[in-house]
Amino acid sequence: MLNKFKVAVVGGAGHIGLPLSCFISSKGYEVLIVDINEKTLNKIKNNEPPFFEEDLQKYLENANKNNLQTNTDLKKIKDFNLIIITLGTSSEQSEVDNFRKLVSEVVELASEESNLILRSTVSIEEIDKIKENRLLIKKNIKLFYCPERIAEGKSLKEIKELPQILASQNQKEAKPIVEFFESLGIKTYLTSFRNAAFLKLFSNAYRYAEFTLVNEFFNVAEKNNIDFKEIIELAKVDYPRLMKMPSYGFVGGPCLIKDTKTFIDQYSNETSVLTSLQESNNEFMQLIIKKCLINFPDKIFIQLGMTFKPNSDDLRSSLAYKLYKMLIQEGFKIYPVDLNLKPEDVDFKLFNYEEVVDKTDNILITTNHKFINKLDLSNKKVITVGYK
Ligand SMILES: NC(=O)c1ccc[n+]([C@@H]2O[C@H](COP(=O)([O-])OP(=O)(O)OC[C@H]3O[C@@H](n4cnc5c(N)ncnc54)[C@H](O)[C@@H]3O)[C@@H](O)[C@H]2O)c1
Repeated sequence: MLNKFKVAVVGGAGHIGLPLSCFISSKGYEVLIVDINEKTLNKIKNNEPPFFEEDLQKYLENANKNNLQTNTDLKKIKDFNLIIITLGTSSEQSEVDNFRKLVSEVVELASEESNLILRSTVSIEEIDKIKENRLLIKKNIKLFYCPERIAEGKSLKEIKELPQILASQNQKEAKPIVEFFESLGIKTYLTSFRNAAFLKLFSNAYRYAEFTLVNEFFNVAEKNNIDFKEIIELAKVDYPRLMKMPSYGFVGGPCLIKDTKTFIDQYSNETSVLTSLQESNNEFMQLIIKKCLINFPDKIFIQLGMTFKPNSDDLRSSLAYKLYKMLIQEGFKIYPVDLNLKPEDVDFKLFNYEEVVDKTDNILITTNHKFINKLDLSNKKVITVGYK
């Protein structure tokens, strides 16, 4: 059973594709990563994780020992009978076009009777278009949608723990793929394409709404001069119903904002409560800017944390970074400090805390990385976005 599939992961050098490729390889499968990013492929071959992901170093080294293949040439997929697409997607037209183009190329190059798993987040419209692809039907390529639901940074832990939603045309076709996931130690739940597409987008839109709702309450408290941090701490004491409430803070990153937008584009309408979520977050940002203007009148501060969430090195759709750019426009002098980022990977100047500690007493903590706990911030004027 184990060697029934040879697995090609297209877009396999990315945040979803690489941990997945390494994990599948760790179970003894032959794996090929196809990706257009040559620089990243070189890092992969040299056992250098291109981004932070817990345990990726170990998994990558093992995968290379197990002969993980990498290539920029999509034609190589013809020798693989299970192709998984993990391209970056959103509802932006350019990304939709890229995705469509890649899928047509994959269908053209894939061998007859092969299996195609869409793992990128896609809308039902896209899936329906692929289902109707004449060449896919002619070549009897079986189509599946297996959305990714991990949290970035925890990929290699969660891939083993989370069940796999698996959408297919019918149960018979799905059987070999169910067995494939079983061989990885992953439980599957079968559903329709329509349900799986809704489920994936709804899950992220729901989480975006949940985080944003707390920010909305923060906005209201702030405008009424009420200390929301104190309120939350009090409200949670021995009160289980609010214990799991998320913290207020920036809601950014590569998934939640774009998937909420795609969900609205697909299913919702302009009057839906979902469409106003972005406004709450914009107002939240404006209130942080106002706090900076009031508390840092000399318009200078050290900004701690630039990535979209704590202990990550991902700047994609980071609101900490967006705030930095907005405040530079407002005339602020900012010293960004983020030990999770490498200077060569960013387009702004990064500093070490020790280099800038004497430049100003003003500190803005935008992303609560672990390293910040170790800094001595006594005698500093600190604003924190969110709370711990
Ligand atoms: N990042 C997350 O935490 C997360 C979580 C769940 C789901 N998702 C979804 O997974 C998908 C992938 O996201 P990601 O964060 O891994 O994106 P990513 O940008 O990190 O990776 C995409 C990869 O595709 C490659 N690529 C682009 N065009 C290509 C082409 N024509 N041929 C071959 N390779 C190509 C890129 O070089 C890149 O390595 C998206 O649909 C996303 O919404 C992401």
